[in-house]
Amino acid sequence: MTAQNPAHRLDVAQECDTPLLPMNAEPILRSICSNPRAHARWLNTLALLEHIGCRKIVKALDSNALSAELLRHIAEEARHAHFFKALSLKVAPGLCPDFAPETLLSGVAARAYFQTLDQQVARRIEAIAPGPHETVLTYLCVTTLVERRALHIYGAHQRVIESLGLPLSLRSVLAEEERHMAEMNAAFSRYGFSWEQHSDALLDLEASLFSVWWESLHHEVQNLASSGEDGGAMPRRIPMHSRL
Ligand SMILES: [Fe+2]
Ligand SMILES: [Fe+2]
Repeated sequence: MTAQNPAHRLDVAQECDTPLLPMNAEPILRSICSNPRAHARWLNTLALLEHIGCRKIVKALDSNALSAELLRHIAEEARHAHFFKALSLKVAPGLCPDFAPETLLSGVAARAYFQTLDQQVARRIEAIAPGPHETVLTYLCVTTLVERRALHIYGAHQRVIESLGLPLSLRSVLAEEERHMAEMNAAFSRYGFSWEQHSDALLDLEASLFSVWWESLHHEVQNLASSGEDGGAMPRRIPMHSRL
């Protein structure tokens, strides 16, 4: 699948081998997962992002319009936040009791990714689909972009967990995120919005914001390694161009 084929961009299963993830994604995740303290902070950062996503859904949707499907989506995102928090506490008990800055890995950049994406998508929706459905369309677009990214990050994370033989699994979350993607895809047509028509610009926007977050994470992981805070478990250099 290529970036020139937007009609199939929601087909994540077929996208998994495309270069949606940076070349250094798996080496960075391997470095993180090799050290329990770094891994716990990364899992806690994912818990925070799931929590932010859940909160945004609740704020974006009119309670008069909440269907069983939407309520389930909200409940599952809240569960994902707790799921990652519980994994974090399992990997390093007591290290990340909340979302204070020191319990996160590149937390400022992670928050900025989500908040900026939300703001910029809202602005684009206001321009391309003005009207009473702006808020819900922003929710659908942001969720589609974030779910898609999460599937690839969680997929890579799962592969690293398996390769290291860690007693953890992200499979239950991966399955639910895949279903959420399908639900978003079906919902666009209810509001007369063509994802295919606007996906190039929205995907490019998300990719540029993600690259800023990922670069920040890369630097933080390298700083941990060079400062020795990792206990010597991390490699001193992470190759930038390793193939997944
Ligand atoms: Fe989630
Ligand atoms: Fe989701």
